[in-house]
Amino acid sequence: MATMQRDDLDRLMAVMDHAFDPHWGEAWTRRQVEDALVTGLCDYFLVARDGEAARPGEPAAGFTLTRTVAGEAELLLLAVHPQWRERGLGGKLMDALLQEAQGKGVTRLFLEMRRGNPAERLYRRSGFEPVGERSNYYRTKSGERIDAVTFALSFDTN
Ligand SMILES: CC(C)(COP(=O)(O)OP(=O)(O)OC[C@H]1O[C@@H](n2cnc3c(N)ncnc32)[C@H](O)[C@@H]1OP(=O)(O)O)[C@@H](O)C(=O)NCCC(=O)NCCS
Repeated sequence: MATMQRDDLDRLMAVMDHAFDPHWGEAWTRRQVEDALVTGLCDYFLVARDGEAARPGEPAAGFTLTRTVAGEAELLLLAVHPQWRERGLGGKLMDALLQEAQGKGVTRLFLEMRRGNPAERLYRRSGFEPVGERSNYYRTKSGERIDAVTFALSFDTN
């Protein structure tokens, strides 16, 4: 679903606005999400607190935002509202992402995270492995530089 309903954007931003520690400067603005979606290359998924896809009108507990180009997909954002963490929703989002990607014929999935993000545990559990890094790529609000680590997951196409 490349075109986003206004209600979906509201529900996604309600998670975004609480999920990211401002120190890291990782949260996107509403405008950035809208701009990503109008490219037609990006897609999103909203999960409800019960782990199912959020039904119309139901608040989202978490979301993913992905971009797919020429058979390769990038996980741009993954977030679960702090109120609903540590109960498997991040895992459900990753499962949904992998299933959707395979259904679309994606052969490789990428993501990039700041070194030390606890989400690494979830990524590795889902089958992602580190494939590269960019030194001092991110800059925190206080000016500290942090490396970016790129992870990839290849689907077996045999
Ligand atoms: C990363 C995130 C989506 C995980 O959501 P979640 O619903 O708590 O995930 P799950 O319950 O499926 O569990 C995730 C795993 O990572 C670990 N984990 C996730 N966040 C953690 C944290 N802040 N501290 C310690 N461990 C963490 C959990 O212990 C769990 O591992 P385990 O089951 O092997 O013990 C959530 O913490 C979040 O939204 N973080 C802020 C946004 C962010 O940094 N996103 C990633 C970069 S875009």
